[in-house]
Amino acid sequence: MLVGVGSVALFAPGCGGSEGTDATSSGGVSSDAGSGSSSGSGAASSTGGTGGGGASGGSSSDGGSLGFGGDGGQGSAATLREAAALAGKYVGTALDIVAHRNDATYAEILAQEFDEVTPENAMKWEPLAPTADTYDWEDADESADVAEANDQSIKGHTLVWHLQHPTWLSASMTPEELRLAMQSHIETTMGRYRGRVRAWDVVNEAVDVASASGYTESIFYEVLGPDYIADAFRWAREADPEALLFYNEVGIERIGAKSNFTYEMISALLEDGVPIDGIGFQSHISIHRYPSLGNLRSNIRRFADLGLVVSLSEIDARTLLLPGDRDLRWRVQRVAMQQLTSACALEPACEGVTFWGFTDNYSWINDDGDPDDALLFDRSYQKKPAYQGALDGFLGRPPALGENALENGDFSAGLDGWEGLDADLALSGEAGCASARAGTTAGMVQTDLAAALAEGAHAFAAEVRVDGSEEAVVDAILVVELEDGTSEELNIASVPAEPGAWVELSGYFGLGFESPLTSAELQIRGPAADVELCLRGVGMRPLSPE
Ligand code: G3I
Repeated sequence: MLVGVGSVALFAPGCGGSEGTDATSSGGVSSDAGSGSSSGSGAASSTGGTGGGGASGGSSSDGGSLGFGGDGGQGSAATLREAAALAGKYVGTALDIVAHRNDATYAEILAQEFDEVTPENAMKWEPLAPTADTYDWEDADESADVAEANDQSIKGHTLVWHLQHPTWLSASMTPEELRLAMQSHIETTMGRYRGRVRAWDVVNEAVDVASASGYTESIFYEVLGPDYIADAFRWAREADPEALLFYNEVGIERIGAKSNFTYEMISALLEDGVPIDGIGFQSHISIHRYPSLGNLRSNIRRFADLGLVVSLSEIDARTLLLPGDRDLRWRVQRVAMQQLTSACALEPACEGVTFWGFTDNYSWINDDGDPDDALLFDRSYQKKPAYQGALDGFLGRPPALGENALENGDFSAGLDGWEGLDADLALSGEAGCASARAGTTAGMVQTDLAAALAEGAHAFAAEVRVDGSEEAVVDAILVVELEDGTSEELNIASVPAEPGAWVELSGYFGLGFESPLTSAELQIRGPAADVELCLRGVGMRPLSPE
């Protein structure tokens, strides 16, 4: 909920909820949402950056888990394509074939800046097969021709998805009929582009943690159950044994309920011998709140440990959830893009990134409610700060951290600066622990932060531990008061914590406000009343591009 219009609009709703919110591909906000070699022309097995861990400018005990590794940036590059190649990654874009046909500047920049393309719509089931017995290959063939003319690799998108599938598919089909249709589509489409398309998004967005089953309740799930996912990958492997087969998902960049469900689902499929080679973190983010470098890298690593390559497959960074002028929003967006490409450059299992378009002129977001400026070039094809951020990230220059805004973040001065929040607070080694908590909004708090919080991008990191009987979600909430007495809560980080284990609670958030705060405090809270909550190594720092 935005602060009242015309008043001191502070910043966007992060809005509470157990996991806060990230923008999702549907344009709304909903709950939370590595490099092997690839045959892409710009991609190769990568050594990534020089490894992460240990924040620049901070000791490891006060938010050091932000993991600003990297070598501080080496070399220079005139294009994203050059910068990504220096990091051993590819940099791709969704290809809007209609824009390419009609807009020479679009075509020129696409060729110059990117070494991979993903047809934005042309290779989806509905555009390819509008009727049950005909295929229309025109746009898909032209997209492949464009990529090859530009010496760009191609990622096919997407074979099985609950959206943009033909209307002649229906839930009234028998399981056998639907399986037959799926198998035929996969074999026909992959067969046509065999040897030209290096990788395919075989299944897209099959997870919906808001549903009872945890799966997206599509016609595929309704008619066939979750086994349709394994079937699709097995048919895909047969159709083109050389192509990398990806599972692609929205809102799984941060470690949380959706990425955990996806992790368990993919692990089980791999255990059953299902041929999955990679996972796409779509990365439709919003600059008011998005995963920290440390959290994103840990998430990439855990999927990599399953033997998968990872890609950030549909990057755009909405800005309008952050009030404030365009220059502020674009400055914060630059840091967001820098963080995303840094994460990929630093993680060997990340094969590359794809932006879901590159100019604000052509973005699906413009047709999805409020037109935003979520990409790298503005509507006149001028490079935005976001472009520089993306370039810097590839060159091993993650965003720079400022001073810790919190007092005694490492509890080296006992409990100085901290208070119990409807709880008893005690020191336990290098941690502060809240017990006898009154409820989910009880925990610990650090007040008087208004003077330390400038507008712009900020990084929060800490470690938390819960002692109780079951998993509990811990939230970091920034509570602020405005001059007109209105207060706002921004969920800046959220993590499901297993009892007894220290886990990273971290995130980035944007602050934009039009007048001084009157008060700001950081609350660490979330679990039920009977859970003891411990906190250590806390850092909240301003982020800048250099
Ligand atoms: O091609 C028709 C055209 O003939 C017709 O005149 C026009 C007006 O109705 O519609 C055109 O189709 C549109 C298509 O884009 C091509 O422009 C569809 O209506 C429109 O819904 C479709 O939107 C696409 C959207 O997926 C569909 O859900 C966006 O361009 C595309 O960027 C978006 O991409 C998805 C990824 O595939 C999966 N991850 C999320 C991401 C964002 O939603």
